[in-house]
Amino acid sequence: MKEYDYLVVGAGLFGAVFARQAVDAGKRCLVVDKRNHIGGNIYCEVVDGIHVHQYGAHIFHTDNKEIWDYVNHFVSFNRYTNSPLANYKGTLYNLPFNMNTFNKLWGVNTPQEAKAKIEEQRSEYAHIQTPANLEEQALTLCGKDIYQKLIKGYTEKQWGRPATELPAFIIKRLPFRFVYDNNYFNDEYQGIPKGGYNKLVESLLEGAELRLDTNYFSARGELDLLADKVLFTGCIDEYYDFCFGHLEYRSLRFEHERLEIDNYQGNAVVNYCESGVPYTRVIEHKHFEFGKQPYTVITREYPSVFTPGDEPYYPVNDEKNMNLLKKYEELMNGSLNTLFGGRLAQYAYLDMDDTVETALKLAKKELKN
Ligand code: FDA
Repeated sequence: MKEYDYLVVGAGLFGAVFARQAVDAGKRCLVVDKRNHIGGNIYCEVVDGIHVHQYGAHIFHTDNKEIWDYVNHFVSFNRYTNSPLANYKGTLYNLPFNMNTFNKLWGVNTPQEAKAKIEEQRSEYAHIQTPANLEEQALTLCGKDIYQKLIKGYTEKQWGRPATELPAFIIKRLPFRFVYDNNYFNDEYQGIPKGGYNKLVESLLEGAELRLDTNYFSARGELDLLADKVLFTGCIDEYYDFCFGHLEYRSLRFEHERLEIDNYQGNAVVNYCESGVPYTRVIEHKHFEFGKQPYTVITREYPSVFTPGDEPYYPVNDEKNMNLLKKYEELMNGSLNTLFGGRLAQYAYLDMDDTVETALKLAKKELKN
């Protein structure tokens, strides 16, 4: 008999949820992570009481009551509501596009006036039947003002390419809301764990054995011998030694700064929409938790080119990469003693609620619990 039933590679949210379910089903779990901390990308560094989201701002939101109840079982959540702002040349606009945004852009007060203004703006581009690129797509959907102030610069920085060279499908539709409501998410439930995300993950991992600073690929043979089965939540191309080639990502660089003032920008998330500003967002972490500290911590977020070895953040879901993924999926499907899951193994952008849901589904199928 082997020492463990499961070796879980990755102490991120997916691995932690699976480990929780396995431990609850009486299984012995060893969780390894190459980083020196648990939580994967939802990990927060605690700086004098402020939880700093190290790998990008994370706001839990879901429409799924079962998932909401599941996470609330481990930690309770505050009532944080995401209401980001967009800064364009020093003027602040509310997001998502709603009556506050339209009022600031055009001085319109009623939904009827706003709808008429958007139609007027769009009509200038009615001649574009089949948008050839993201710029044309956006102009046909919202017209010049919103595109130039709130979409163009931000999107170009995000993707590192002019909007005229980006595919139209990136923007399928633009959600306009004709109400004075700055709540970004439509979901019924949202918030930030009281005490931070680390508390949630610590709680999920209780009962599992943990080894940090352990790269699976540095000790694969040895680690595989310890458990009957492996759950792998790292990069799928790396798992197969890049045999079909590298899957592409867009990466991010974060610049954290502590400031000796109590309030820097009055909001957790401010997007910077002009191309002259090199970062796309500034996050002020204390506002996620209504912090009252006399100091603050901000993070500037810079999109960056991904080269192998960088942190993979956003998968590039174009045809070339999706075809590559299919080849890796064929290998995954033929694997007997290894399970795969999570954003890196699935090569997919998964919100946290989707991550929890897919991990629970896999656990249910595997553990029959
Ligand atoms: P995750 O990447 O978190 O964990 C994988 C773990 O495996 C890592 O700890 C890694 O070190 C480890 N690992 C990999 N290879 C290994 C190896 N060879 N050996 C050992 N360990 C290895 N969602 C949401 O709901 N609201 C939000 O606001 C946001 N915000 C957000 C911002 C940004 C910038 C991104 C990119 C993503 C979000 N998300 C989000 C999504 C969220 O981050 C995501 O759902 C979870 O982090 C996915 O958890 P995983 O466990 O799948 O991956």
